[in-house]
Amino acid sequence: MRGSLGAAVALGTLLAVTARPALSPVPSGPPSPVPIVIWHGLGDRFDAPGLLSLKEDLENRPELKGVFVHIVEVGEDGATDQRATFFGSANAQVEHVCAQLASLPNLTDPVLNPSRQFDALGFSQGGQLLRAVVERCGAIGASEDGDSEGVRMRRLITVGSQHMGISALPPCPAGSSPFSPCRLMHLSLVREGLYSAWAQHNIVPAQYFRDPARIDEYLDGNEFLRDINNERVGDAQPYGEGYAGGYGDAEPRNETYRENFKQLDRFVMFRFSEDLAVVPPHSSHFTLPSPNDTTCAPPPAPPVPGCYATPLPWSALPLYTQDYIGLRALDEQGRVVRRVCKGAHMEIRNKCWEGIVQALVDTGPEAVHDYEDEEEDGGEARFVLQL
Ligand SMILES: *[C@@H]1O[C@H](CO)[C@@H](O)[C@H](O)[C@H]1NC(C)=O
Ligand SMILES: *[C@@H]1O[C@H](CO)[C@@H](O)[C@H](O)[C@H]1NC(C)=O
Ligand SMILES: *[C@@H]1O[C@H](CO)[C@@H](O)[C@H](O)[C@H]1NC(C)=O
Repeated sequence: MRGSLGAAVALGTLLAVTARPALSPVPSGPPSPVPIVIWHGLGDRFDAPGLLSLKEDLENRPELKGVFVHIVEVGEDGATDQRATFFGSANAQVEHVCAQLASLPNLTDPVLNPSRQFDALGFSQGGQLLRAVVERCGAIGASEDGDSEGVRMRRLITVGSQHMGISALPPCPAGSSPFSPCRLMHLSLVREGLYSAWAQHNIVPAQYFRDPARIDEYLDGNEFLRDINNERVGDAQPYGEGYAGGYGDAEPRNETYRENFKQLDRFVMFRFSEDLAVVPPHSSHFTLPSPNDTTCAPPPAPPVPGCYATPLPWSALPLYTQDYIGLRALDEQGRVVRRVCKGAHMEIRNKCWEGIVQALVDTGPEAVHDYEDEEEDGGEARFVLQL
């Protein structure tokens, strides 16, 4: 016993000695932090003071010293960027942002970003748009000739996002002018219809509208969320029979999306405890209200804003059980975290913000195992972002 252990140790030492010259030189100084990409919500703009102060807070954290933070720009100026949160094509915006990220040396240059990764922080609809980025764009900046492998999203953190869609449009801020983008959006949807081809190409929230009571229209007509959720006509539905449109699951799910999504190191979803803007609020945790919970009028009754019924467990959600996008695979590896921020939609209080930062910087297992937490009441919002 003793002799063989000694031999094994000696062999180990020998291997270590012979292997040493092949090791690359130890980099000097602390490793540079993984860059952060932020995509804001509906009605916000890349140059909004709330977003800029949040970016500055990240840049000034000692644990993130030297971090590169990029707020995505969909429009060339703030006003255009804001308008593009209401009007436009989510698919085109995702494509545009992937190209934008590929053009940033701070992200893709191996010297400036030796980690070859980036973290993504999505507020409200920015969350599902960033999920489309990881699923569709995979390795960003990878060259065809294989010279560069590109950079991959490491963590995806979403705050008040709509992963299972919305079954009511977000309300416009009180006192909005009839010519505000929000009111114009509502008006045009009344006129044209949510699932009209026009709305599916021109109104961003219509592209993640998913009403379980009108699931057939969604599966037939939705151009964005249905695709990134890898949903297909004929899918089983937790609410009753679902829609058997005649051609079953003839169209295979997109494996690339699943493969890309499964590579995330962590997927953290925050929802707000007093969310009135996301209907149902369960969507921020990638589920729906349970149809068996009658405290909040289950579908097809119109949703009651702010009512938080028992969530449908993932074990009853085909998207999870059949693992359409790799959510189950990630979850089974302990890489999915759901948290609750106290407060209204996009009113980010201190503890909520610290939780978000922790999700970015923490490497320990505790951040992953902290499955659901509620912060204490009280305190003013630290950052107020738009829907
Ligand atoms: C990289 O990011 C830093 C910090 O934000 C900035 O000062 C610098 O100009 C950027 N470099 C390039 C090449 O974009
Ligand atoms: C998967 O999605 C990508 C990007 O949208 C698309 O290019 C590709 O053709 C899709 N693959 C399949 C099998 O549908
Ligand atoms: C709802 O209740 C029915 C009948 O008791 C049961 O079969 C079903 O599994 C329940 N669904 C969920 C999602 O709990």
